[in-house]
Amino acid sequence: MQRRDFLKNAAAFTIGASPCIATGAGPAPLRRANSGRKIAFGAAIDVADIDRPDMVELFKAHCTSLTPRNALKWMTNERVEGRPDYKGADRIADFARSIGCTVYGHTLIWYRVPAWVTAMTDAGELRTAMQQRITRTIRHFAGSVQAWDVVNEPMEYSAARWRDSVFQRLLGLDHIRACFELAHETNQNAQLVLNETHLEKAGPMYDARRSLLLDLIGQLHQQGVPLHCIGLQSHFRPGLDQLDSKALGDFCASLKQMGIGVRITELDGSCRFVSRLGKVDMARTYSAMFSDVVRVAGTRGDLRGVTCWGLAEKYQPAENGATGNCRSRVLPYDDDMRVRPAFGSLMSTIEELNR
Ligand code: G3I
Repeated sequence: MQRRDFLKNAAAFTIGASPCIATGAGPAPLRRANSGRKIAFGAAIDVADIDRPDMVELFKAHCTSLTPRNALKWMTNERVEGRPDYKGADRIADFARSIGCTVYGHTLIWYRVPAWVTAMTDAGELRTAMQQRITRTIRHFAGSVQAWDVVNEPMEYSAARWRDSVFQRLLGLDHIRACFELAHETNQNAQLVLNETHLEKAGPMYDARRSLLLDLIGQLHQQGVPLHCIGLQSHFRPGLDQLDSKALGDFCASLKQMGIGVRITELDGSCRFVSRLGKVDMARTYSAMFSDVVRVAGTRGDLRGVTCWGLAEKYQPAENGATGNCRSRVLPYDDDMRVRPAFGSLMSTIEELNR
């Protein structure tokens, strides 16, 4: 489907000025085009979105996968030790099922844990808590989640070193192997992902991050650890960072040689720094940002899915330090539920790769 056709169709899903929903009668441009294809398209979802008819319309039109933005995090699921609360995630799972979507499990183990886990000082206790988090959560969602971010962001945000998390402090780097092996024992059909940020970007620090992670993945692969995919979060900040097509391509190709795939898991864009680029065509800038990372991952790596970190800006919180260019992070639909040209570029790229 040509980008202009997509935009025409997708615009049909631009939510009408009236409070009700899509005015479009056109085909669901993405859902129909993508269903059953290798590279599924999805978006992050908030529990509140389920009660927003305009958001429901967009999820139905475009998504085959939904990622709970916060509802499947340990901080959300077990504020009080031993009292798991999956209510929000259950609502999302039921909603996803009702519209024929799968649920992507973000995330089992992350450095942002409930306070009672942060307070732990005993390695044995932490291991037990980590094991229970993994087994209980995978079992609870066995019917609806078949791909998990088993470990999220094990590296420091802005450095090429392992994050100083409670897991790293008490259990060492080996906790990553333990998490993947336990997740696989709990659900042998699930696709198990290590999700990380900044792996797409140009610069020596990012090169060092890719190298550090690839070394670990190579070791885990040698040990036969069931790590199936790397999540490329793909949060971009035009004017501050940029895609390194060659370095990302080489990274994805190295993974592919080990039989390890990639997923784009949290695609969105900041516009806080875009003015540093001078007078730029915003549509062109964000179209390139959205489509180039997909093209590189899909042509050099084994790309298995693309997820935007939300479908519409309308209900998203303001981004700290946002400027006049935009209020919140750039997504496929803007504050007024108008489709952004960048979404057309992204989708025609996915279409090309799915042929
Ligand atoms: O639900 C509570 C609400 O009851 C309370 O009144 C309010 C004020 O304290 O906080 C609300 O929870 C917030 C939650 O989002 C839901 O809005 C948390 O404070 C806030 O920290 C949380 O932020 C999320 C953040 O991860 C931390 O979990 C963002 O929505 C979410 O977009 C962001 O997503 C992360 C990925 O999980 C991992 N990769 C990076 C990505 C972006 O930071």
